[in-house]
Amino acid sequence: MSDVLVPFVDLKQRFAEEREELLSAVTDVLERGDLIGGAAVTDFEAAAASYAGAAHCIALNSGTDALMMGMMAAGIRRDDEVITPPNSFVASTASIAHIGATPVFCDVGEDQNIDPARIEALITPRTRAIMPVHWTGRICDMETISAIAETHGLLVIEDSAQSMGAYRNGRHGGTWGVVGAFSAHPLKNLNAVGDGGFLFTQSAEIAERLRRYRNHGLADRDTCLEWGVNSRLDTIHAAVLLHRLRRLDDVIERRRRNVELYRSLLVQDDLFIPPYDPQQSDAHVMFIIQCERRDELHAHLTQSGVQSLIYYRRPIHLQPAAAALGYRKGDMPVAERQADRVLALPHHQHLSPEQIEMTANAVNAFYGRS
Ligand SMILES: Cc1ncc(COP(=O)(O)O)c(C=O)c1O
Repeated sequence: MSDVLVPFVDLKQRFAEEREELLSAVTDVLERGDLIGGAAVTDFEAAAASYAGAAHCIALNSGTDALMMGMMAAGIRRDDEVITPPNSFVASTASIAHIGATPVFCDVGEDQNIDPARIEALITPRTRAIMPVHWTGRICDMETISAIAETHGLLVIEDSAQSMGAYRNGRHGGTWGVVGAFSAHPLKNLNAVGDGGFLFTQSAEIAERLRRYRNHGLADRDTCLEWGVNSRLDTIHAAVLLHRLRRLDDVIERRRRNVELYRSLLVQDDLFIPPYDPQQSDAHVMFIIQCERRDELHAHLTQSGVQSLIYYRRPIHLQPAAAALGYRKGDMPVAERQADRVLALPHHQHLSPEQIEMTANAVNAFYGRS
């Protein structure tokens, strides 16, 4: 096994860069002792909503909870159908199944986002919502998706887990739909020091219900209005997120520059990188190429000391957990082809130009392009 010269992520370096400020934010929480539902939670919610131009932000304990609770509060019920792409993290689909609704898969386009041209053919009398996923931090074609939803009276639930800091035509991810669900998992651009999540909504009613629901359905200590759950974002995570929100634009800018360097160095004859869309301001959460002989390239990079990851080898409609939905190989040709070709190259704000060059050279050399 070769030494790792280019790590896929570098969370230790992130801590080294912000050590003093981060420890001071955490110390403040510990000194105040308001570990549950403390001031940092409401401060983070206000700051995140203002950053994105959302009316309300509800801090929760994961992106998965944000998806499930957002759908539930928006009124999606058992046996409703929700249209969603098959190439996300399994949580997108699982959240639909967990509230008793039925996931209906819609194939994706070359940019790996849901293909709006295929949505209408999937709408049935049971369809209640569309759940686009802003994969890698690139926002879906929300103008078209919103228009389809409006024509057919459907809700839009945005899986914005990867889209904090991403805009399309000047509008922030997660602010088109009735709810936008965000993850603050350590691999996201705006990350907590463990699991965390939050949700944007324009609806005061949904916001009020979820503030209660995340806290056992309690209106106050003595009044439980409905059976809720415990999905409160811990105050320490909120303090970290509040601190990191101030640095988010800088993180994204550094990632954008890395992607530009990758694009200029990678010879694109044997691989495909979705082109820049001028309508997008991408959050650059992952840098995924689509390439020939992917598994061999993956092994070659490992040998060269470059960590790369496959997101994902198996599309969700072909997961054992999806068996009861009745999908077969061949049903989602674009997503299935991409599952054989996608490879995420190391991509984080701490990469040096030399590390990017080393990675690009290793890829080019593999295809005999050096
Ligand atoms: C697209 C997508 N949806 C949902 C999730 C679930 O978020 P979490 O891990 O915070 O529950 C993630 C993150 O892992 C994700 O990337």
